[in-house]
Amino acid sequence: MEIFTIDEVRKTFTNGEVQEEILKGINLSLREGEITALVGASGSGKSTLLTIAAGLQTASDGRILFEGKNMTTMNSEQVRKIRASKFGFVFQFAHLVPFLTIEEQLILMLEVSNSKLKKYEQRREIDNILKLVGMEHRRNAYPSSLSGGEKQRVAIARAIIHKPKVLFADEPTASLDSKRSKDVLSLIRDLTKKLNITTLMVTHDEEMLSYADHIIKMSDGQVLQSKN
Ligand SMILES: Nc1ncnc2c1ncn2[C@@H]1O[C@H](COP(=O)(O)OP(=O)(O)O)[C@@H](O)[C@H]1O
Ligand SMILES: [Mg+2]
Repeated sequence: MEIFTIDEVRKTFTNGEVQEEILKGINLSLREGEITALVGASGSGKSTLLTIAAGLQTASDGRILFEGKNMTTMNSEQVRKIRASKFGFVFQFAHLVPFLTIEEQLILMLEVSNSKLKKYEQRREIDNILKLVGMEHRRNAYPSSLSGGEKQRVAIARAIIHKPKVLFADEPTASLDSKRSKDVLSLIRDLTKKLNITTLMVTHDEEMLSYADHIIKMSDGQVLQSKN
């Protein structure tokens, strides 16, 4: 099922007197339970497209349809609600809070996305997610004692603990070595399939493309080629 549609999206930035069109009419759609990889040279507009799709910044023109609803006409509070409850995010660095344990980071996320959960329900969700990402033995650890790959596993747990529909990942393996990158990508792939998430992932690494269901190649603000 098609859950997400990007329709003729444009983005223009103004630098002083100069207007620059960074996204030049992007069209793409994402289907439930599938991973779409966004590739292309640095500066081609991948992160801009991802953050617009995720409602973190607005498009200059065009529409973003999520579950059939047009996000581009919603007010910022409506977009914020969707983002907090239906979207998850993973970035290049895990950005864990240094003075919170793994469990506490996850509690914090649950409080933001769904404050109605009781303590024992929170614990159940945390048990489940830590098992899924293979980190249940580190629940009381602090980030400084984790390896880069483990931190990214916790970041993934945090991104999906509230059961989002869509996972946005911007170069989630860029700071990892090749083996850890593969581990993290196969984890993202497993979770996408098992939890029926829709994943949009920016990656620069050709080797990682075998993990994607679809590959969208961007160049200079346009979709150059889309391979299914
Ligand atoms: N807030 C901004 N203001 C002005 N220019 C921007 C802004 N954000 C991104 N850009 C420009 O848009 C282009 C695409 O950036 P980006 O989407 O980050 O590319 P990618 O993720 O593919 O490397 C770059 O030339 C960048 O300098
Ligand atoms: Mg980028």
